[in-house]
Amino acid sequence: MVRRIPRGEAPLRSLSCIHDLARRAKRRIPAFAWGYLDGGSGEEGGLRRNRERLDSVLLKPRFCTGVRPDCSAELFGRRYAQPFGIAPVGMGGLLWPGADLALAAEAKRHDLPMVASTVSTTALEDIAQAAGGNAWFQLYASRKPEINRDLLERAWAAGIRVMAVTVDVPMAGDRRRDVRNRFVLPFRPGPRFAWEVLTHPAWALATARHGSPGFPNLARYSGEVDGQTLTAFISSQIKDDLGWDDIRHFRQLWPGKMLIKGILAPEDAALALDAGADGIWVSNHGGRQQDSAPAAIDALAAIRAEIGPGPVVVMDSGIRSGEDMARARVMGADFVFSGRSFYYGAAAGGQAGAARAVELLASDLRRTLTQLGCPSWGALDGRWRWDGRDSP
Ligand code: FNR
Repeated sequence: MVRRIPRGEAPLRSLSCIHDLARRAKRRIPAFAWGYLDGGSGEEGGLRRNRERLDSVLLKPRFCTGVRPDCSAELFGRRYAQPFGIAPVGMGGLLWPGADLALAAEAKRHDLPMVASTVSTTALEDIAQAAGGNAWFQLYASRKPEINRDLLERAWAAGIRVMAVTVDVPMAGDRRRDVRNRFVLPFRPGPRFAWEVLTHPAWALATARHGSPGFPNLARYSGEVDGQTLTAFISSQIKDDLGWDDIRHFRQLWPGKMLIKGILAPEDAALALDAGADGIWVSNHGGRQQDSAPAAIDALAAIRAEIGPGPVVVMDSGIRSGEDMARARVMGADFVFSGRSFYYGAAAGGQAGAARAVELLASDLRRTLTQLGCPSWGALDGRWRWDGRDSP
C-alpha cells in the first residue's frame, strides 16, 4: 500500500534523529498538545539543564578493536534486546490517538519495556496485551488504599511483573505552556481550541476515529465520588502526603520488582532501598516538576556514588539518542528510559513514527558502542568517560 505523504513532507525514513521527529510532531499536532508534550515547569531550567549536562559528558573513542557490539541488557533477571525503554506518559492518546498501543507494539517487536501510566489513555490490560510480556506499570498512589490495591492486582493479573511508584509529583508542576494554552482543569474548549483542531486535520481525523481519550485505568473508581468529572477526580485522588511507610506498604502488596521513580537526592535513594525498593529510577520528570531541579545525569552520578555499584539504577530525563544512553551508562545507569522521544515519534507518524523513533535510538546506540570500541552495553563503564586520564 502506498502511504500518502502530504505535499512537501519528507518521508519518515529521511528523518535522521529524534529532534527531526520532534519538529515533525510539532507541525502535526495542536499547540496545546505540543505544549503538554514538549514543555517543562517554570522557566524550563530543569528541562534545559538535562540537555546541557548530558552534552557535557564526553566519551572516549577507542579504535582498531574490531568489536561488533552487543546492545542487549539484563535487568531483574531478564535480558532485553535493548538497554532502553518507554517511560510512562499520561494522556498519550491526546498527543496522538492510539500512540500508547503503537508504542506497546514496538516494545514487543524490539523487545524493550514499555511502562503503562496510571493516567494513560489506554487500559493497562490493553497495553500489557499489546506489549506481549514487555509491559511494566507506573503507580501514582491514590489517597484511597483500595484503589492502589486494585490497580496493583490488575497489573499483576495482566502479567506485569515490574512496577514503578512515582514519588516526584506531590503537587502538579508549574506548567506554564499549559496555562498559556488554556490546557488546564477544568478544560473548557474555546474558539482557539476549535481553530487548532481545524488547522491540524490529520490529528483531528485520527482523534475523531478513535474517540476522545479518557482514563480507563481510573474510570471504574470515579463512581465513588459524586458530581465530579473524571479529571477532577484524578487530581483530587493523587496522594499528596506520600511517605516511606506507604512505599513499605506497596512493597508488601506487590510481589514483583518495585522501582521508585523520580529520585534525585542521594539520601532519598538510600531511603528507597531501605523501604524495600528493588531499584532506583533517577529522574527529574523530564524537567516537568521543578525549575531548579538538578539534571538527572548529575543526580545519577551522585546517587551511584552514594549507594555503590550493587543496586539497580535506571535513569531518564533528556535521553534523545544512543550517545545520550552511553553517557548515562558511563555515569552509572543500568538501563535508561525516555518519554518524549517515543511520543514525538508517535505524534510525527503514528505507528510508523513510533517504529522510526525506536529504530533511530537502537541504530544510534549501536553506532556509539562501535565508535567507542566497546564490546557491549554491559561492559560500558567509567573507563569510556573522557576525563583525560584513564584508558580502558
Ligand atoms: C510524563 N512523565 C510521566 N511520569 C509518570 O511517572 N507518570 C506519568 O503519567 C507521566 N506522564 C508524562 C506525560 C508527558 C507528556 C511527559 C513528557 C512525561 C514523565 C516520564 O515518565 C519521564 O520521566 C520523562 O518523560 C523523561 O524525560 P524525557 O525523556 O521526556 O526527556
